[in-house]
Amino acid sequence: MAEIGKDISHARALLEGGDLVAIPTETVYGLAGNALDPDSVAKIFETKNRPHFDPLIIHVPDFDHVDKYVSQMPAKAILLAQKFWPGPMTMVMKKRSHVPDLVSAGLETIGIRCPDHDLTRELLRSLAFPLAAPSANPFGYVSPTTAQHVDDQLGQKIKYILDGGPCPIGIESTIVGFEGDNVVIYRMGGVTVEAIESIVGRVGIHTHSTSNPKAPGQLHSHYAPGKKILLGNISELVAAHRSEKIGIISFQKRYTKDFNIVLSKAGSLQEAAKSLFSALREVDKMPVDLVITELVPDHGLGRAINDRLKRASQIKL
Ligand code: TXA
Ligand code: MG
Repeated sequence: MAEIGKDISHARALLEGGDLVAIPTETVYGLAGNALDPDSVAKIFETKNRPHFDPLIIHVPDFDHVDKYVSQMPAKAILLAQKFWPGPMTMVMKKRSHVPDLVSAGLETIGIRCPDHDLTRELLRSLAFPLAAPSANPFGYVSPTTAQHVDDQLGQKIKYILDGGPCPIGIESTIVGFEGDNVVIYRMGGVTVEAIESIVGRVGIHTHSTSNPKAPGQLHSHYAPGKKILLGNISELVAAHRSEKIGIISFQKRYTKDFNIVLSKAGSLQEAAKSLFSALREVDKMPVDLVITELVPDHGLGRAINDRLKRASQIKL
């Protein structure tokens, strides 16, 4: 079991000593280490069992820190940062050479973001280095949205979890890159496509391929819990699987009394995003053999939710 608390000085001392600390953000909890120290970064990969071809995001407290790690910031990136930082947006840009190659998995770019969480920003401001932080889950599993989720899976491997309460957004950051003059989305997340397009005009969407070298971590199984998940029309799927013990994750409507998690009774996509990863963890613990779920309305945050549901059910995107 890791210690769970709100002690920023303790977190800081551990990080300065080369240890890892789990940190809260507005999206999901991250497994953080000194991004400029290759040994700390190596520990992150090892602790998560993460393949080295999957690059990490680095976290900074404010926009003015970006220049230290990024050699060139496109004009559209500045516009997006002004609008969405601090917040759930990661930008992929050319890195400066002193950022260790291990962080970027050998790519010439890094993913960088300024998270919108008071505790973590205070911690970042107190440090002389940025924090590399992937989501604090074992590779291939759903991201954690509470300190307890982190402790359940990584508690034996890390000393401290900085507890910032449940993550208010609950789904990872949107990852964008810049190709020529175009903005391209590599991962759907907490900032919606519509919001981005209202600032920079039409964007490209390159989120699908498992072999996409721009987003090597976007594997289909990335958000998979342990149970088999079927995605489709809930009533039809329930009828077709009568003989099995079924759990249901539905958007708004309740289908059965037991083992049915409703993401948002009010039909709010914000609320659904916030509860999605907890729901996937809960069904994993239920005495059911099969989980049946459905897509949510495919706009706004719904696009990121549907992306995660498809990956969790291992549907080919
Ligand atoms: O919300 C989030 O982004 C959370 C919190 C902790 O900040 N972090 C997170 O990290 O989701 P992670 O490691 O689970 O996912 C980061 C993904 C990688 O899988 C990779 O696809 C992409 O970011 N990425 C990072 N650096 C990249 C780069 N240089 N080029 C393309 N994609 C990159
Ligand atoms: Mg992750």
